[in-house]
Amino acid sequence: MRPVYIAPSLLSVNKNDLQSAINQVVALGAKFIHFDVMDKKFIGHESFSFDDFSRVKKMHHVLNDVHLMTADPYEYAKEYAKRGAEIITFHYEALKDDVTRVDCIDAIRKLGVKVGMSIKPRTPVEKIIPFLPMLDQVLIMSVEPGLGGQSFMPDSLNKIKKCREYIDANHLKTLIEVDGGINDITGHDCYLAGADLLVMGTYLFGHADLKDRYQKIIVACQHG
Ligand code: DX5
Ligand code: ZN
Repeated sequence: MRPVYIAPSLLSVNKNDLQSAINQVVALGAKFIHFDVMDKKFIGHESFSFDDFSRVKKMHHVLNDVHLMTADPYEYAKEYAKRGAEIITFHYEALKDDVTRVDCIDAIRKLGVKVGMSIKPRTPVEKIIPFLPMLDQVLIMSVEPGLGGQSFMPDSLNKIKKCREYIDANHLKTLIEVDGGINDITGHDCYLAGADLLVMGTYLFGHADLKDRYQKIIVACQHG
């Protein structure tokens, strides 16, 4: 059985409540905290700052999964690596051609972190497949990046399946992460399609039954 991991996204959490949100998911066994970074160029608005990250990093001891939705991935990656991020994912669409993308993967890896690349919903999965052997993780966006609380786009399942087939056929260790609109139903569907890591924001946070929600998805995936 393939393990499933939950990467709780802090985007929807009020900045004053971050510590208690993190405590809850870490107590439930979360091994990753998903940290969304946006700039005014790639997204049009900002989310967390570098200092927010340093504060969050001190709040837990699990892996910091930084999702860069920024037009200049390397400049941000340098700062997040310096501040202790373990995994840094940038967007395929942020860079102009494949040579620049490969250079960016190499440069981020040289910072001593794991590297991921992400595609937006309208980018065909075939664009990212050739990069899979170079990546520690691939992040399939199942909503338009920028906001939490959107509905899952079902086409994403096919993208996950295609990545899974390629990864398995080539005996790669690349993890498949999916982000956007993930709940107990869509999360289970993504796991069955081949996802390893489920990013979850609004499904988890702000609900009194967070523990039940978290466990429900783990149990559903463990039962196939
Ligand atoms: C959106 C972010 C997500 C967001 C997901 O651009 O990348 O990580 O927090 O939120 P939900 O789980 O609410 O779709
Ligand atoms: Zn994200």
